[in-house]
Amino acid sequence: MDFQGRFNQKYRANPRLFGQEPMPVLKKALQFVSSGTALELGVGNGRNAGYLLKNGFTVTGVDNSQEGIKILQQNFSQEPKLKLFKADVLDFVTEEKFDFICAIGLLHFFELENINKLVNKIKTFTKKGGVNVLAAKMTQNFANDLPHIFAHNELKGFYTQPEWEIKHYEEIERGRAKIATLIVQKHTYRPRPM
Ligand SMILES: C[S@@+](CC[C@H](N)C(=O)[O-])C[C@H]1O[C@@H](n2cnc3c(N)ncnc32)[C@H](O)[C@@H]1O
Repeated sequence: MDFQGRFNQKYRANPRLFGQEPMPVLKKALQFVSSGTALELGVGNGRNAGYLLKNGFTVTGVDNSQEGIKILQQNFSQEPKLKLFKADVLDFVTEEKFDFICAIGLLHFFELENINKLVNKIKTFTKKGGVNVLAAKMTQNFANDLPHIFAHNELKGFYTQPEWEIKHYEEIERGRAKIATLIVQKHTYRPRPM
């Protein structure tokens, strides 16, 4: 079964999969941007989106799991500040720019070429002064079929351009898994060449 089918099955079996608490790195990132518009790619069943809404953000969520999207629609049916798209993140396009973009537990589902495309998309969609929050696996899953496992320091290597400032990078242990977590901020000015 492909990843989409697997996530549909998981969300159907447990609508509270991943719990209600956001990833700690997402909470930490709110010290750099605390309001505005947020985009979560791979929004899942909404633990991070819910936290962003609670903190006053207007949130756009994208996921290709209709079961995840359905849970969010049910849990936030009265929430005018939440926009949801059932779509593959590689196909998702928007004219909007966001203050806050996160992709938590998403990038390891893609080959390197598509990770590059996705990160470039995330960068383009970010307003000046905006923040990106990424978390991706450094260890395989039980089925041993994640297309990309991040190496030591690899995740922050996607943000080497001078307009991006690395605010936080940490490789954390979660049960049997190791996860790279990153917060970066897009500068509001263009650094002058020396
Ligand atoms: C590990 S879950 C994380 C969910 C959420 N970000 C969180 O932290 O709770 C990964 C999510 O990415 C979604 N996903 C995986 N590949 C995707 C793709 N190509 N397009 C859209 N969503 C995708 C899955 O459906 C799933 O909801």
